[in-house]
Amino acid sequence: MDIERLKTRAAEITETENQRLLERSPGSASLFERAVKSMPAGVASNFQAGDPYPIYLKHGSGSTVWDVDGIDYTDFHGGFGVNVVGHAHPAIVEAIRAVADQGIHFAVSTENTVALAEEVCSRFQLDQMRFVNSGTEATMDAIRVARAATGRDKIVKMEGSYHGHHDVVLFSVVPEADVLGLRHNTEHEDKPYYTTHPTSKGVPHSMWGDTYVTPFNDASAVEALFADHGSEIAAVILEPVMMNIGIVVPTPGYLQALRDLCDKNGTVLIFDEVKCGGTIAYGGTTERFGVRPHLAAYAKALGGGATIGAFGGEAAIMEWVTKGAAQQGTFNGNPLSVAAGLAALTKVLTRDAYDYMGKLGTMLAEGCDRAIADSDLPAHTVDLGAKGCVSYRKEPLTNYQDFLETVPELYYASYPWMVNRGIFMTPGDEEQWTVSVQHTEDDVQKYIDAFGEFCQELSR
Ligand SMILES: Cc1ncc(COP(=O)(O)O)c(C=O)c1O
Repeated sequence: MDIERLKTRAAEITETENQRLLERSPGSASLFERAVKSMPAGVASNFQAGDPYPIYLKHGSGSTVWDVDGIDYTDFHGGFGVNVVGHAHPAIVEAIRAVADQGIHFAVSTENTVALAEEVCSRFQLDQMRFVNSGTEATMDAIRVARAATGRDKIVKMEGSYHGHHDVVLFSVVPEADVLGLRHNTEHEDKPYYTTHPTSKGVPHSMWGDTYVTPFNDASAVEALFADHGSEIAAVILEPVMMNIGIVVPTPGYLQALRDLCDKNGTVLIFDEVKCGGTIAYGGTTERFGVRPHLAAYAKALGGGATIGAFGGEAAIMEWVTKGAAQQGTFNGNPLSVAAGLAALTKVLTRDAYDYMGKLGTMLAEGCDRAIADSDLPAHTVDLGAKGCVSYRKEPLTNYQDFLETVPELYYASYPWMVNRGIFMTPGDEEQWTVSVQHTEDDVQKYIDAFGEFCQELSR
């Protein structure tokens, strides 16, 4: 299909559907007016902001959420990949109620803390782990421990990747598509790796040279970097499946090549499994792709919806937390979060649960594939356990530069279209769907039908 015609059609749909969304959400509009007085952008996190305002939710149950206007939606937003257990799962609600009755916080480890640590270690093949409160803390602490263990300062991350909002990883992060090219340091212009200006204000200038960037799925770029700077590099951190630009899977051999390069250079390989750990397989990336990192970071699905994170890996590296690398936190191992996490991992997120979510995900991706083919759209789907997505480019993506070739106008149109038809999604062009153990085939069919109508509308 002619791409310019498609963009024009998408712009028309965006305008009509955004207008309709505004008309359906007077409750969100008035809550926003109140919210901006106490919170910048009227939300608790920049990722929750909306244009001109976000849809505010009131409650959720099973696979459904309700907004403040009383409209119900089937939830494929999934709390940014947290809610593979669905909403208000009885096993998790019961676990939280039971511990809340016995004291909400101690800042002292309990038997449940030990039981959850054992479960995380065995499930993800870690020698040892420590709890934190978020994905940001998990990657931050993993990097600090890697620096302590190696006595080195520099780290390597992949172009366009997101690892949370601490300083050292705020370089080359989506969204910065239009400026990325302008941010390369000239010093490294002729190399397959580079350092860049940060994507956030407030990152000290003294840190700007500490983070090297290489393209995802390019082990030779990391090899070239090691050849020049190997003895300075503490850690290579990556999402083994990139999940912030749609979904980009690792090419065969890539993860193992990184592991081999890190072993050879005395560098710590860190997998950021914050999003993929609890969603793509029972045992995360290690199980799905068969490669073990030295350290890994977890959060999101680990707590069954409660606030938690963890990082762990080889004992010889983890022991640095008792040899001078700061790793602490008042709320680490909070009883409510630990009880929710224990119930989620041991009672809900079983191997059968991943089989079930995998089947739903495949049904969803195949349904979307049919709709894309029928309308001959420049798009493809990715199907990976509880996660999947539609990306608006004909061929699968291998890295961030490929993501820049997707057609953002189609995302801008699909978001309000889907929301207006009862499918709750993350806004923007970089997120994906999450299915849960409480979703049904009917829920998935509802998504496929709405998406199919969207494709037909686009190609009219
Ligand atoms: C891969 C990845 N790492 C780290 C984080 C940060 O986690 P949190 O938002 O819990 O701080 C995220 C959040 O989206 C993520 O997707």
